Amino acid sequence: MCGICGYVGGGNGVKEVVQGLKILEYRGYDSCGVAYLDNKKIDIIKTIGDVDNLKKLTENLSANVVIGHTRWATHGSVNEKNAHPHLSTSKNLAMVHNGIIENYKELKEEFKLNCISDTDSEVFLNLIDSEKGTLIDKVIKASKKVQGTFAVLVLGSDGEMVLGKRESPLYLSNVEDEVYIASDVLALKGENYFALNDDEFASVKNGKIIFYNKNGEKITKKCEKIEKNSDFSEIFYKTHMESEIFETKNVLLKTLKKYTEENIFQNIKLPKKLNSISLIACGTAYHASLMGAEFFKKVGVDARAYLASEFRYGNEILKDDTLYIFVSQSGETADTIASAKMVKERNLPMLALTNMENCLLNRICENVLPTFAGREIAVASTKAYTCQVFSLYLFSLYLANIPLPKEEIFDDFPYVTFSEELVKQIAKFKKVFFIGRNLDYVTAMEASLKLKEISYINCFAIASGELKHGTLALIDEDAVVIAICTQENIKTKLLSNLEEIKARGGEIVVVSQFDDFSDYPCVKLPETQTELMPIVSVIPMQFLALHICELFGYNPDKPRNLAKSVTVE
Ligand code: G6P
Repeated sequence: MCGICGYVGGGNGVKEVVQGLKILEYRGYDSCGVAYLDNKKIDIIKTIGDVDNLKKLTENLSANVVIGHTRWATHGSVNEKNAHPHLSTSKNLAMVHNGIIENYKELKEEFKLNCISDTDSEVFLNLIDSEKGTLIDKVIKASKKVQGTFAVLVLGSDGEMVLGKRESPLYLSNVEDEVYIASDVLALKGENYFALNDDEFASVKNGKIIFYNKNGEKITKKCEKIEKNSDFSEIFYKTHMESEIFETKNVLLKTLKKYTEENIFQNIKLPKKLNSISLIACGTAYHASLMGAEFFKKVGVDARAYLASEFRYGNEILKDDTLYIFVSQSGETADTIASAKMVKERNLPMLALTNMENCLLNRICENVLPTFAGREIAVASTKAYTCQVFSLYLFSLYLANIPLPKEEIFDDFPYVTFSEELVKQIAKFKKVFFIGRNLDYVTAMEASLKLKEISYINCFAIASGELKHGTLALIDEDAVVIAICTQENIKTKLLSNLEEIKARGGEIVVVSQFDDFSDYPCVKLPETQTELMPIVSVIPMQFLALHICELFGYNPDKPRNLAKSVTVE
């Protein structure tokens, strides 16, 4: 989603900011731009599409005070007018904004603000400009009037920069006289960083940072160490997604090692009496949560997974003998964060299962179980998912006092894939269905999500037993059904389902370690530890999505309309 970068110092800020935006590219965006100070006048350059376009457009520019943005459209379509930075009506201020100003229409009317774009952000900017006082006064006053979420970076024509945040993250680092600002620690330079908390602000001028609270009082903040992941995914293959799938074994091993050697589970605070577990997440992390719920139930702990966007507005009865686990690769997802805040307000036992050390969710939950998947760049989550599944599995063992497995379980870790021929065949179908039961149904859901997000094929997952309650009506010769079966006890059930599909003309492909499906084209999984089956069986599904996407000529790392971290509701 949207990304913010800023620079104040003696170097070429345009280059620094464009470099920072390049790092933030992985979050997903559709347009980008920079604003810089040229002799007390603010100039803006914006473009639709790649940061590489912006790089070309700004090649010969140099400025010491610069702000930049990658925009993922929410209010207003994708065009240069709506791209950030925006310039205020007075032309004295430019601003970049992440988040959503919910009452922008009311503010625009009440304060008679003139705006050129269709964005909520420009309303916020002109509101700031209409306030009285210094730039920091203006930003703090305007922030009191806005409802919603924001990380803002405002550039004044006198060279001052002011930033503030509510919900959306924003960070700064200071390297001698240079100040870097970014919405992701990864895009900062230096060894240490400052994280703004909600309704905190900062002013940056002449290399000095001054922090303020929401009352405009100066505050001091402690800096934290930047943990730039040394295991940042290097591209060994054509795409990040492919590299990341092939990192699965290493990241699982690393997670197992860390959990074993560093006694990570012992540091987790559990409720005095643990009666049940609720897992709350979005997207792929929700699928990992569904899998986790199955693992917990298997060891006798009642568990349920919720979509964060449902949980936060639902009527869930919150209890103090429940452990609320928030599962998130980024630790920034808006609905997951909002759900965590709800639980925190009630002072209930909570745990963050996250992949990013410096993330907002960890700050909220305080109690953290890290995954060690390393930085994931491709929008379609792969190694982070398998790591979440594995972590939840290990945690379930810990809760049941079962010793963790030995590293040897990964000795012959298999990367199974669909044959080229099968990929080509499946890609021809207008309708793709994934079916399975229990754990395999969860894998089917994840397989379907992967395929639709990067190949744009209309597909969905259905529990095998539910087929005849509706979905069977869609089965004809335009449909292919990919059936997953890794559990012994449901083999025969699946065989009957397959007969029903065959009788209606649907094509069938089976993904299984069992020999019982030899009547159908089959992707053969190896006989491996049952506990690894949800991981071993999802890998071919990730490859299937990747290979169909490549066959269609799309970029799997940057699917249309999607973002890596969804920081707006
Ligand atoms: C976005 C990403 C998905 C991810 C989901 C939740 O939709 O594209 O890959 O699963 O957000 O993200 P999180 O960072 O909370 O795991």
